[in-house]
Amino acid sequence: MELEKKYLLPTSKRLPVTLVRGEGTRVWDTEGKEYLDFVAGIAAVSLGHCHPELVKAVQRQSMELMHTSNYYYTIPQVKLARLLCESSGLDKAFFCNSGAEAVEGCIKLARKWGKEKRDGAYEIIVAENAFHGRTMATITAGATEKYRAPFAPLLEGFVRVPFDDVQAVRRVTTGKTAAVLLEPVQGEGGVNVPSDDYLPQVRAWCDEAKVLLMLDEVQTGVGRTGTLFAYQRFGIEPDVLALAKALGGGFPIGAFLVKEHCSVLGPGEHGTTFGGNALACEAGYTVLKYILDHDIPAQVAQKGEHVERRLRSLADRHPMVTEVRGRGLIWAIELDRPAAEEAVSLCARDGLLVNNVKPTALRLVPPLTVSEEEIDRAVEIIDRALMRIEGATPK
Ligand SMILES: Cc1ncc(COP(=O)(O)O)c(C=O)c1O
Repeated sequence: MELEKKYLLPTSKRLPVTLVRGEGTRVWDTEGKEYLDFVAGIAAVSLGHCHPELVKAVQRQSMELMHTSNYYYTIPQVKLARLLCESSGLDKAFFCNSGAEAVEGCIKLARKWGKEKRDGAYEIIVAENAFHGRTMATITAGATEKYRAPFAPLLEGFVRVPFDDVQAVRRVTTGKTAAVLLEPVQGEGGVNVPSDDYLPQVRAWCDEAKVLLMLDEVQTGVGRTGTLFAYQRFGIEPDVLALAKALGGGFPIGAFLVKEHCSVLGPGEHGTTFGGNALACEAGYTVLKYILDHDIPAQVAQKGEHVERRLRSLADRHPMVTEVRGRGLIWAIELDRPAAEEAVSLCARDGLLVNNVKPTALRLVPPLTVSEEEIDRAVEIIDRALMRIEGATPK
């Protein structure tokens, strides 16, 4: 921890815990203390820590070929692109290394598409409370003032509307609009689940107005909400889709997928050195194939119902819990006071890692492979933490 202070930029607020090992939903620190991990690398460790199939695939591929650049064909990249396209309904993939890069690519694609296909349109409609990453374009698309203000001037051409309000999207759509960019469930913004008719109505509006619908499923994609992609629950498809996090199961990878009709990026117009390398794509392929073969999204939907029951009963016992919201295995517990940071520390002390997505909200995003027993244990630990905060004596 001392060395971290000396050698790293102080951009991360960390718990005083040094993690050294993980297995499934559990991680251990340098003192041998065990934690249930309901942060899962911020919704990235989809199959749990060190899943044997992912470990095997990474070991095997790293002995064969790790990285070549995109000057050449590699088999893992094409395998993963095919599986993603076949399972998403989109047509073409571009690989990168993170969620922010994936959304950045979507923004560039929308600009080029607008230039070519919509008379120079370049504006992108984005939502309040949105989070899309930390590059210049993605902080501009995101809503968090603290992430934006120090880096102004930002990019031009982003128009913000309230989330879950299709009329607002309609009102600001003009001849300059190229795309609408949304998270199907806002993750970093506090786990905000829109009404069921929101995405279908935005889809219909985008069709009518002839603008692109771009979904940022960096946090919701690859099983998290109980369908492989969150939009599949509504029987719609986006024109452009950003993915990362769960796709790599802990290995860094990002991707954006596009429909053929808006596949406007040609040779040399976008690129990356590491994106789509053989090792990352083999990891992504292994994770996605496992999730499809084992019907993990259906299991997530079931586990999500269990989480919901447990959290609703938690809310009944604690007046300070004002709301629980979520879907599948992404949930927030909203408190009536800014006590989430204290709750995070108390939970860690009792062996549970959760994070405070807002000063007033805890977020739970365990591995998709979490068991019901682990969910029960996590809720018990949160229960005790809330009792302490409320001043009651925990059992
Ligand atoms: C919806 C969404 N988009 C983009 C990002 C950025 O991803 P990354 O941190 O991998 O750049 C995140 C990260 O939390 C996210 O939740």
